[in-house]
Amino acid sequence: MNSIQSFLKNHKNRLINELIALLKIPSVSADSAYKKDVLQTADFVLNSLKKAGCDHVEICETPGYPIVYGEKIIDAKLPTVLVYGHYDVQPADPIDLWTSPPFEPVVKKTAIHPEGAIFARGACDDKGQMYMHVKAMEYMTSTGNLPCNVKFMIEGEEEIGSESLAWFVPRNKEKLANDVILISDTGMIANNIPSITTGLRGLSYVEVEVTGPNRDLHSGLYGGAVANPITILTKMIASLHDENNYITIPGFYDAVEELSKEERAAMGRAPFSEEDYKEALQIKATYGEKGYTTNERNSIRPTLDVNGIWGGYTGEGAKTVIASKASAKISMRLVPNQDWKEITQLFKNHFEKIAPKAVSVKVTPHHGGQGYVTPIDTIAYKAASKAYETTFEKTPIPQRSGGSIPIVALFEKELKSKTILMGFGLDSDAIHSPNEHFGIWNYLKGIETIPYFYQYFTELSTKKTN
Ligand code: BES
Ligand code: MN
Ligand code: MN
Repeated sequence: MNSIQSFLKNHKNRLINELIALLKIPSVSADSAYKKDVLQTADFVLNSLKKAGCDHVEICETPGYPIVYGEKIIDAKLPTVLVYGHYDVQPADPIDLWTSPPFEPVVKKTAIHPEGAIFARGACDDKGQMYMHVKAMEYMTSTGNLPCNVKFMIEGEEEIGSESLAWFVPRNKEKLANDVILISDTGMIANNIPSITTGLRGLSYVEVEVTGPNRDLHSGLYGGAVANPITILTKMIASLHDENNYITIPGFYDAVEELSKEERAAMGRAPFSEEDYKEALQIKATYGEKGYTTNERNSIRPTLDVNGIWGGYTGEGAKTVIASKASAKISMRLVPNQDWKEITQLFKNHFEKIAPKAVSVKVTPHHGGQGYVTPIDTIAYKAASKAYETTFEKTPIPQRSGGSIPIVALFEKELKSKTILMGFGLDSDAIHSPNEHFGIWNYLKGIETIPYFYQYFTELSTKKTN
């Protein structure tokens, strides 16, 4: 047993209990009722960075929730790894569907996690994965195994669009200067099939509102003679895809980067079972853009989805009414080269144009961000790949993800450094859903693998400059 393995064995219970304590604080950034808890979580993270051996830690105030910063600089000539993560979580609702309360973490065994998984909001996204880095740091500093400089930047607004971080980064370029950015906020294919995330999709998130008459109307007295905003909205939304599930917004695909046959063939070789996928989701068939596979549809292709829709009477019983307004929240996942602001504008123009005269529409952009692709011919990728080879005894597969971390593109623009995405979660961990969980095995494997990244990255970087 090597040094990191005995560290994990000796401290296993403490490592789990500390994460459980972090998960107990409901740091829901979207809901101001949790403001105190979000701030308390920032303090928790600050203290944990101190304990992990950072020489300097700091709560950095922003117009929104603070950014927790920590660093240990051992030698200015050595490379610097900047770790990014987030301490905020998604709202827990619908609460009724949780088998145990979202902020009372419990360890339960599942078919995929026979060694147990911690069930709690944020277990995987991102408290559990962020905390792996804190504990890997603690291991390295307490055993004299830290080979380079480290900076931590842990934010509290990732789940609501990272606005404050986008404000902070350009103002603190020197403080944040680094040779590589390391993030664990994505997933991998399976516990026996490690993978490195090489792409994130961009995002444009908008809200639309359709208004008909100036007030709710009796659906008998007025029905048939005025436009029903709910009917119109649903028609408009339905028209955003054609019969092949292509998005109909003019210009939407103009910038989309088409992958070569070879790249698509390589993607197709990644282990994937359409049958297992359908079984896990209890669906009879998958659905999406004609001409693309499931894995292509959810990673290299852009999408448009309604995330929520409301209007009219939804209470108990029946009320005969034509609503004055109907609304929806719509997200568009974008691929590299698609500019999120341009896409937002195209959407707005199109949506306003297809509205019949009988209604008025309002399109309100929320947040967004660019997609990202990690090159695989870099020292950072090689170091990550070697780290997985060491602890999983398998070469990780590069794989693009469908999710978004919009701030990553901004890091590259402002800090001029590449990001490496070492995710240890699984798609089945139910992030953003009821019963989110994170495998104990995954948590410990992450802590075990991360120090090797530092070691190999330092070795490969110093080789290059010598
Ligand atoms: N950690 C996720 C993103 C993610 C998860 C990427 C799994 C790849 C694999 C992140 O916290 C997230 O949820 N991002 C949001 C976007 C954000 C602007 C709200 C998303 O993807 O919906
Ligand atoms: Mn996340
Ligand atoms: Mn998330």
